[in-house]
Amino acid sequence: MNKMIETDITKMFGIKYPIFSAPMGPFFTRDLALAVCEAGGLGVLSNVNIVGTDPVKEHVASMEYMIEHTDKPFGLNILTSRNNPGVREMVRKLPQIVMKNPKMRDQCKYWLTSAGSSKFLPGSKYFKELRENSEVKHFHVAPAVWLAQKCTDAGVDGIVVTGTEGGGHQSYERVSTLVLLQQVNKFFPNLPKIACGGFATGEALAAALSLGAGAIAMGSRFIASKQSEFHEKYKALIPPGKPQDTGLFTGSFGPIRLYKNEYALSHPAPSSKEEMIAYEQSISPEQRVRDLGSYDRVYNGDIETGAVLLGQSIGVIDSIDDVNDIIERIMKEAEIIIRKNYSMLK
Ligand SMILES: Cc1cc2nc3c(=O)[nH]c(=O)nc-3n(C[C@H](O)[C@H](O)[C@H](O)COP(=O)(O)O)c2cc1C
Repeated sequence: MNKMIETDITKMFGIKYPIFSAPMGPFFTRDLALAVCEAGGLGVLSNVNIVGTDPVKEHVASMEYMIEHTDKPFGLNILTSRNNPGVREMVRKLPQIVMKNPKMRDQCKYWLTSAGSSKFLPGSKYFKELRENSEVKHFHVAPAVWLAQKCTDAGVDGIVVTGTEGGGHQSYERVSTLVLLQQVNKFFPNLPKIACGGFATGEALAAALSLGAGAIAMGSRFIASKQSEFHEKYKALIPPGKPQDTGLFTGSFGPIRLYKNEYALSHPAPSSKEEMIAYEQSISPEQRVRDLGSYDRVYNGDIETGAVLLGQSIGVIDSIDDVNDIIERIMKEAEIIIRKNYSMLK
């Protein structure tokens, strides 16, 4: 009989499996989040601001969709960068809306902020009120150990430790998930952690648990699923993809890991914040509009001049699968590895 894997994170959120979907804004991940929740993990709604959408309205519509279709807990992501359109409204309005809706309040338990200040959300009086009157937890993405310190100073309930092999925005430090987890453990041994960046298999889940994480979050693995809302051409890049088909380039908030296509190769990565600021100041307004349009283009299937965010983990993903099968397979594999490791003890 299959054993359960119980961790601080599965207990904190009352979920069956220590598997989260990573947020993947500006794209929709509504159906994906729902499938992950129904399969026993925790699905996360992305901060959607593609095609001129209103991020508050999108989050509300997504949460309504979730509570209508599942009774399981789920999460949402807010990019707390000052450059993110609608960030102030999200931080002010979303906690008030959730507070007033008992089902949303019970289920939307995981509030993940990223790409900006970890203090912004807990600083909101509405979020404070929500936190005091519910089981809502606040996590922040920490791609470097000094950022983990800032998160703990902000009073987070936990962090998502994301290394440089992951898809999407990255820190300038470029530290791998393997090293970052060890660093974070050394300084914050008791802080709840979700490991992210490079995870796609059961052996990787077993490794994350050994490295002190209570769960993993996966982006690229879930893009290559039947339920994800990504364009079929985007998904089709993954099974034949190799880790080295991705690299670091220039994104909206600094370095970003992209699939190497025409768009990526014309946007070399900044090596520091100063270089990023200099780049932003150097580009013309037309270029800025073209860069911002890279997400809309890829959303509509242009995988050459659009920004294709993917992680090195594509090198271990061979097929586009059902979310349920992905999660069941990872759990089975992890159990085998954990038993094997245990049997090494003599
Ligand atoms: C398409 C895409 C969009 C992403 N958008 C976001 C986002 O809006 N917010 C965020 O915190 N991380 C974002 N990320 C990063 C993921 O949350 C996660 O860190 C990453 O996918 C982990 O690496 P993996 O792809 O190897 O699983 C994005 C990643 C991808 C692939």
